[in-house]
Amino acid sequence: MKQMIIKGGNTLSGTISIGGAKNSAVALIPAAVLANGISTIKNVPNISDRDALIDILELLNCQVTLNNDELVIDTTNLNNKLIKEEYSNRLRASYYFMGALLGREKYVEIYIPGGCNIGARPIDIHLDGFKALGATIKTEGNKYILSADKLIGTDIYLRFQSVGATINLMFASVYAEGKTTIHNAAQEVEIINIAEFLNNMGAKITGAGTNEITIEGIKELNGATISVVPDRLEAGTYIILGALAGDNLKITNIIPEHLEALTTKLKEIGTHITISKDAITLSKTSKLKPINIKTLVYPGFPTDIGQPMSVLLTQCDGTSLFEETIWENRMGHVPSLNKMGANITVSGMNAIIKGPTKLKGCEVVATDLRGGAALVIAGLIAEGETIITDVEHILRGYENITEKLTSVGAKIELKEI
Ligand code: EPZ
Repeated sequence: MKQMIIKGGNTLSGTISIGGAKNSAVALIPAAVLANGISTIKNVPNISDRDALIDILELLNCQVTLNNDELVIDTTNLNNKLIKEEYSNRLRASYYFMGALLGREKYVEIYIPGGCNIGARPIDIHLDGFKALGATIKTEGNKYILSADKLIGTDIYLRFQSVGATINLMFASVYAEGKTTIHNAAQEVEIINIAEFLNNMGAKITGAGTNEITIEGIKELNGATISVVPDRLEAGTYIILGALAGDNLKITNIIPEHLEALTTKLKEIGTHITISKDAITLSKTSKLKPINIKTLVYPGFPTDIGQPMSVLLTQCDGTSLFEETIWENRMGHVPSLNKMGANITVSGMNAIIKGPTKLKGCEVVATDLRGGAALVIAGLIAEGETIITDVEHILRGYENITEKLTSVGAKIELKEI
């Protein structure tokens, strides 16, 4: 078990370079099993979710070589075995092996996925889509058995623009006979990255990034190369930190268009922000205006930046409203923020945030990945020492977080307990 210890109040200057997107990498890695041969994934973030997926690939007898941020996966000797619960429940994205193995092998046995406790997280939309393609689904306790004699392309209407279901159904349909169209597909930028990888393998996917994706089934996919798109959520977290504690803090290696929902709000708040081709530079502003935030599917304000953003709202001069619309349980960080001195009232999926409030360091607990990131920001602007427990949640999705923050002047360390 690890703790994070932060001594707050320092001004942060210099450059933070953003890594590859967690939510893209965690789908690209399972996608490799769709091809027969060797694939290379570049710009892979150094996060524990990556390691959990590598363990699943190795369980399936794939040969995996990790060289810094480059992952080479050889699926030639793939052995399609049961993915045991101790592998699947380490992260949400283990469920991408459902679509990928169903697509390639027409058979998969896997236990339920894990992931952050931010809501019920059903997978009915994925399963309905697999069934529409012709798969049979059986459950034995926590185990799913998906099988098909053959998969046949069809029209699939998602009842919600689910990111995971869109990706899983792209995986399951690449080898299906004929054409599959996913209607009401999620439009997140990571989905474009994943479709590009599959197309590099030889798939025929069009429309990724729009709400209608078409997949023409093919017979063979070969190993291919892809680079993971920059992580807009890691970037968003540090950008918010820059607005609170920066002195020309530069966040580089990003695609600013992917962050427009956030930067538009930051301008509305009154933040000093300079946007260039692949970087955003911020400095702390003394008076910030309160605003309302409502999280939405892409290109709306990302749910994954809502919790870090709520810390910024504690420093705005007046009352802000933070409405979460995707996950029922995304306010787990609020008791910790209030313990630090914030004035936040939660009602269901909404929070009313009154500011500005001085934050004071104390012992707090990371209940989930982005809630943990919010506490890191809070600790860095608080007076005194903040100790964050359960930091494993944070390390699942933020690569080298203490090194990156230390390099710009933060006092932050990880301690084994
Ligand atoms: C992805 O989760 C991300 N995770 C989440 O990021 C992110 O918050 C979410 O997309 C929304 O952007 C990964 O990419 C690994 P969804 P996912 O399916 O795919 C409901 C982070 O912090 N739903 O788009 O699981 C669901 O309950 C993580 O990086 C069903 O009802 O999200 C939720 O209310 C957390 N049935 C909504 O849809 C289903 O079958 C959106 O879920 C699937 C989803």
